[in-house]
Amino acid sequence: MEITDLSSMKLPSRPELFDFEGVSMIHYFTDNWEKVKNFQARPDDILIATYPKAGTTWVSYILDLLYFGKDAPELLTSQPIYMRVPFLESCFQVIPSGTELADNLPTSPRLIKTHLPVQLVPKSFWEQNSRIVYVARNAKDNAVSYFHFDRMNMGEPEPGDWNTFLQKFMEGKNVFGPWFNHVSGWWEKKQTCSKLLYLFYEDLVEDTGREVERLCSFLGLSTSVEEREKITKGVQFDAMKQNKMTNYSTLPVMDFKISPFMRKGKVGDWKNHFTVAQNEQFNEVYKQKMKNTTVKFRTEI
Ligand code: A3P
Repeated sequence: MEITDLSSMKLPSRPELFDFEGVSMIHYFTDNWEKVKNFQARPDDILIATYPKAGTTWVSYILDLLYFGKDAPELLTSQPIYMRVPFLESCFQVIPSGTELADNLPTSPRLIKTHLPVQLVPKSFWEQNSRIVYVARNAKDNAVSYFHFDRMNMGEPEPGDWNTFLQKFMEGKNVFGPWFNHVSGWWEKKQTCSKLLYLFYEDLVEDTGREVERLCSFLGLSTSVEEREKITKGVQFDAMKQNKMTNYSTLPVMDFKISPFMRKGKVGDWKNHFTVAQNEQFNEVYKQKMKNTTVKFRTEI
């Protein structure tokens, strides 16, 4: 499947949000649901699970380099990340569905991306005991990143202005539902599932090399210091922003004139968006919605 440039293709108008099994969704992630639900995971699959805009592409590329950077470097430089790491529940029409891509991947183990909340993950991943890497990002930066993403991505619902978006975010009226339930649901799962590694975006920004090492040890990969250093350098924000295979510049639905996919890559950018009143309101909502979970985030480093 040689799809590297789709810039001439167009998607129809912005999709509407609707309730799907208790979670706000758009049709691009439910159209292929029978196949998603019945997806046959393999024991060596690695599922990269995140709430949208938490660092999915970053961790996907780290894993792609760790597994295939040495033996199949030509694939990494000729195929965009969204073809190398299929987005399981996606069914965008302009590229093959996530399940189809996953079933036809030329490399093994398969790296598969999902934004599904934990309760909607196809059961075969649990039956097969596949490894899962979950990445979480603090709610405020996550909301800001999601807002800019929805502005520039015509495959997402219309976000409205920042305040409108923030109110919807607090109510969980975003694609893939409430951030609060997502991060805490996966956190609870981690307490009993030894095959699940829970990473934080803030830790990745603080010390990427340390987190790469953590990933290697979770995945049982032995890599040299030199290899890890090379990977750590190659996955820095500026390198990935310049890299056509990781910066999403080949997808027609995204309008980089509005906002680039690789936007800022920072912890604390929320301070440039939240007013004092919005911050106070958000902190109240946060306290309430997160009162039953032990997961803790850093909103600055
Ligand atoms: P910002 O919008 O805050 O810049 P996802 O891949 O889950 O869609 O997440 C995208 C977010 O991760 C964007 O955040 C993007 O810039 C950031 N990101 C991607 N690669 C990164 C990197 N190498 N270093 C830091 N942030 C990165």
